[in-house]
Amino acid sequence: ILCIASFRSFSLPLSMQSAVHVTHCLPLQVEKYLEPFQLSLEMLQEVSARLRKDLIRGLGKRSHHKAPVKMLPTFVRATPDGTEKGDFLALDLGGTNFRVLHVRVEEEEQRVLKMNSQICAIPKEIMLGTGEQLFDHIAACLGEFLESQKLKGQTLPLGFTFSFPCEQLGIDKSILIRWTKGFNCSGVEGKDVVKLLKEAIHRRGDYDIGTVAMVNDTVGTMMSCGYRDQNCEIGMIVGTGTNACYMEEMKHVKRVEGEDGRMCINTEWGGFGDDGSLNDIVTEFDVEVDKTSINPGIHIFEKMISGMYLGEIVRLVLVKMTKDQLLFKGQMSEALRTPEQFETKLISEIEDGLDNTKKILTTLGLDWEPVDACVVRLVCDTISSRSARLCAAALATLTNRIRTNRKLDHLKTTVGVDGTVYRKSLNTSLSRLPFSSFSIELQKAVCLLAPRCDITFLVSEDGSGKGAAMVTAVCACFLIPAFILATFPISV
Ligand code: BGC
Repeated sequence: ILCIASFRSFSLPLSMQSAVHVTHCLPLQVEKYLEPFQLSLEMLQEVSARLRKDLIRGLGKRSHHKAPVKMLPTFVRATPDGTEKGDFLALDLGGTNFRVLHVRVEEEEQRVLKMNSQICAIPKEIMLGTGEQLFDHIAACLGEFLESQKLKGQTLPLGFTFSFPCEQLGIDKSILIRWTKGFNCSGVEGKDVVKLLKEAIHRRGDYDIGTVAMVNDTVGTMMSCGYRDQNCEIGMIVGTGTNACYMEEMKHVKRVEGEDGRMCINTEWGGFGDDGSLNDIVTEFDVEVDKTSINPGIHIFEKMISGMYLGEIVRLVLVKMTKDQLLFKGQMSEALRTPEQFETKLISEIEDGLDNTKKILTTLGLDWEPVDACVVRLVCDTISSRSARLCAAALATLTNRIRTNRKLDHLKTTVGVDGTVYRKSLNTSLSRLPFSSFSIELQKAVCLLAPRCDITFLVSEDGSGKGAAMVTAVCACFLIPAFILATFPISV
């Protein structure tokens, strides 16, 4: 039923969908601005076919170095089996904050307990400063936390969720390929991140840590969900950035020796399109977002999907519409004029209802009429739907690949998911109608694009509401001996 319903909404042109949605208040010209963001089912199938080729390029020994989708081996060869236990520290770096946690894994009850945690902000100057400053800041936060927990005398093993593309040479040796999202610290690309962290801790000299295991957030998510559901073989993040990992057949992982079994591959799908392969669907607004970003030309796909960029795309569309006298009687406010002032979280708040929209427009200093509120909602919905559908095309590519890899007629699989864009869209209320949320839009589109895959979405657990997700993720992942074999040499 879901599939049929979504097929209808895919086949309706936006004008008709919006006619159903906001009939009485939509100026016709609005459609012209939003058309480039509409992707037909055929186009999404085409996007998926292009990504399918790029996955193969990324895995190949000779094609890898030029491939935009890096397909990085993680050396994780199986999901947790629930027999792991002990006390650990976990660090989580990837968004605007940095998190330190102390966790305990109990074998008997197969539970991961968060003993305590602390969040440290990372000021923009540090995100754009030197690597030494960044790692000194991390080591200082960790030191403060250990002091407060009276753990300074112990040397606990540490799991490090580092959410950037890294060439993993072993579980404790990980070379940063490039910074993404809001980070651009000098002197880190091409270096071993674990070594930089250890050096910063030794510079302080007031505490020490045990063995370190590095993991990407997608892998952490897959592992933590795998702890609860053995079918979980994909981890996906739609937050500040976007990415996914999945279990690939070893015989296809050409850069790693060995033919048997499977290995988790960090796809780094954010880089899809960096070679121009998505130029036909990239809009003038995407081009602008990329141009003004700190890393132009890098992570084009991510810039069309993830939380770091969606708000800015919406703002640019609204600015253009205002300049062309289609919104706010042509009057711009300071907030609308200023880059990055329209935060991504406003998109789901606006989609939540007209009353919300009106409040937000007032807060942004805009002089609105009811019709403006309708148009702004439609813009937000269009850009968030495009993000969900592109993400669906990528996810369907992975599930279809797993299915054909295993020569199955039908695949039943679970996707572990995390990230603010996805999580926020789970709080749906009736006031949101007739717009649907990111998660629903994603599910509908995947269902059409991977009709022979039965996919369950499992959100990474966050029981305490304070990032327990990352605890389990990192923790499960660095309980190495039981399920990770880090013994394969990699041919770079
Ligand atoms: C990074 C990935 C990460 C993703 C989600 C991207 O920018 O390259 O490594 O998994 O963001 O955090």
